[in-house]
Amino acid sequence: MPDAAAIAEDLYDRVRGCVRCSLGTMRTRAVPGEGPLDAEVMFIGEAPGVNEDKQGRPFVGAAGGFLEELLAAAGLRRGEVYITNVLKCRPPGNRDPRPEEIEACRDYLDEQIDLIDPLVIVTLGRFSMAKFFPGQSISRIHGQPKEVAGRFYVPMYHPAAALHQANLRDVIVADFAKLQALLVRARRSVAPHVSLPAATEAQPVAAEADPAPTQPPRAVSATQTRLFD
Ligand code: URA
Repeated sequence: MPDAAAIAEDLYDRVRGCVRCSLGTMRTRAVPGEGPLDAEVMFIGEAPGVNEDKQGRPFVGAAGGFLEELLAAAGLRRGEVYITNVLKCRPPGNRDPRPEEIEACRDYLDEQIDLIDPLVIVTLGRFSMAKFFPGQSISRIHGQPKEVAGRFYVPMYHPAAALHQANLRDVIVADFAKLQALLVRARRSVAPHVSLPAATEAQPVAAEADPAPTQPPRAVSATQTRLFD
């Protein structure tokens, strides 16, 4: 039975060699994702931008800088969370992901979710949100966690949205500020017998979104606008 590191390396190798869709022939480097394989929190963005395509790492451009600030404000370090994207290759000109590209990449993301098995999945932006909350509007459900089978899903605006729309900055900061309390709640729900020190008591968590997230849909609408770079 291969260990998690071997499974991840095999997955990353397959992503780096992938030509399931035409993006595989246009990229400089594929961007499988990164982070500890036992991370409690997984962030799922949209697709690599120009900087990510050059470096082969997710969220290393301006949006990544802001993501790191948001993580710090939430009491999280980049090195302790897992970060990946719906698409593993950059769409040319940073256009929106197409449904067939999302479909071609779907297995890779699903494998990553199975492997990391995070307590909390944070979707960044509408393409990522659509995997778990199809048909929902991000302006209506952002920041509102939903628990499904012991895992919490939190739709967030894309960090790049806040770089381009000043009014979203406070919103995304406030949403990220709720993450630490959510993580405490998620840990409790998998290990309810563990009593935590008072300092880590959960703060009230936002009311739950309605309706509940579904299992990942087989097709995702690509009508949304790409927000970054
Ligand atoms: N935006 C994303 O959605 N992903 C990245 O990796 C970088 C920017």
